Amino acid sequence: ITIRQATINDIQAMQNANLHNLPENYQLKYYMYHILSWPQASFVATTYDTIDEDDVFDEEVENPKGDTAYINKGEKIVAYVLGKMEDDPDAEDKTPHGHITSLSVMRTYRRLGLAEKLMRQSLYAMCESFGAKYVSLHVRLSNRAALHLYRDSLSFENTSIEKSYYQDGEDAYAMKKVLELEE
Ligand code: ACO
Repeated sequence: ITIRQATINDIQAMQNANLHNLPENYQLKYYMYHILSWPQASFVATTYDTIDEDDVFDEEVENPKGDTAYINKGEKIVAYVLGKMEDDPDAEDKTPHGHITSLSVMRTYRRLGLAEKLMRQSLYAMCESFGAKYVSLHVRLSNRAALHLYRDSLSFENTSIEKSYYQDGEDAYAMKKVLELEE
């Protein structure tokens, strides 16, 4: 499994993975906006599939293990992180800071450390390329796996609870991590 920066050619596969893994979904143009505006901030984890080559060009196919593969010229995306810098002119805090829009890992590739690696790459790039002083994100109160990842593995802190943040009415933790470039 390889981790690399996401490109415009990956956005369809990233959207497919997102649709599989999360109820918060976005239009393709929103992925494009991320990649074009902050190309260093989004990453994908990819692997090559061993199934019949005839099937693998830019199509969604079932792989023999039964999970759904997302194919991009034989390379499939098994995880992604979509990151951005805060660019809302009305945002209260004018300190440059990053935001994790979405993170997910296909089911059969979980607990391998991919999410943590993707997050660390994105956080480093936000700090290094865009001078982000901190990074923020939202996560469902019920999302145990993601909460463990953010709080325990990556040392994010809860800043507040945003009531009914999600469309189904669930509350979100707003979380934040201060970024510092290591010497
Ligand atoms: N239960 C408890 N802790 C977990 C779990 C779990 N099921 N999964 C991950 N963790 C924690 C652990 O602390 C783990 O460290 P450890 O393995 O040393 O104990 C740490 O996270 C790192 O685990 P990774 O292997 O890097 O995480 P993974 O690649 O499995 O991805 C993720 C975690 C992204 C939450 C995955 O389960 C997933 O895709 N879930 C569905 C989508 C989702 O919830 N995305 C996040 C939404 S919030 C947002 O997008 C801003």
